[in-house]
Amino acid sequence: MKSPKLLPLEKILFSQGFGTRRHCANLVFAELVKVNGDLIDDPDAIIPVENLSLEVEGVEWIYHEKAYIAFHKPPNYECSHKTKHHPSIYNLLPMPFVERGVQCVGRLDQDTTGLILLSDDGQFIHQMTTPKKNIGKVYWIQTAEPIQDHQIEHLINGVVLDDDPKPCYATFCEKKDDHQLEMTIVEGRYHQVKRMLVAAGNQVQSLHRHAIGNYSLPHDLIEGQWRWLNQQDINNLYSR
Ligand code: URA
Repeated sequence: MKSPKLLPLEKILFSQGFGTRRHCANLVFAELVKVNGDLIDDPDAIIPVENLSLEVEGVEWIYHEKAYIAFHKPPNYECSHKTKHHPSIYNLLPMPFVERGVQCVGRLDQDTTGLILLSDDGQFIHQMTTPKKNIGKVYWIQTAEPIQDHQIEHLINGVVLDDDPKPCYATFCEKKDDHQLEMTIVEGRYHQVKRMLVAAGNQVQSLHRHAIGNYSLPHDLIEGQWRWLNQQDINNLYSR
């Protein structure tokens, strides 16, 4: 049987993004940390991390060894820390995520809405973004001009963008109505969907990412909200 993973409380708080080791120890000394409902005042107390529920300065925090998060990006936010014209999506997330180094898994443009993943697991970020894994990113596109069948064929057969002679393809492309398209791509080149639409003879009016793999943006996750992904959600991300 696997022995339970045990860690000192100070180290647990640090791993979850509650600040420097010293700050974490001070939070405990100041009696601002509860562990599974009990106040603990010793930062060296050894705690099993499985199913661990913390309360830090009155806020409940469930221990996660690695963070896997789904976020519903609103328009007019940028996906970087050093933004140019709009506020950062990181302003909409709890401080511990930023502190523990959670990063966007591929960025969305400031005017794009929808599903964005965030994680502090470098291997996961790589797997989600590399085209080799064939993980589809599903976009709902409102087009400027009525969609024509030959444009859909073009997108599926591959379009060449101006910065790379290698064509890029939609792995799925379906017209929903005159101006609405659902399109899946597995790469994440710069402004890829917008540039693909231009190359096919149309233009994106608005863009929303609906799903990654088989994981769709939950209906009850409203713009600006986030949630932890569970193991089933992560499995869905990998499946097609
Ligand atoms: N493609 C784009 O052009 N923009 C996005 O935000 C995402 C994909």
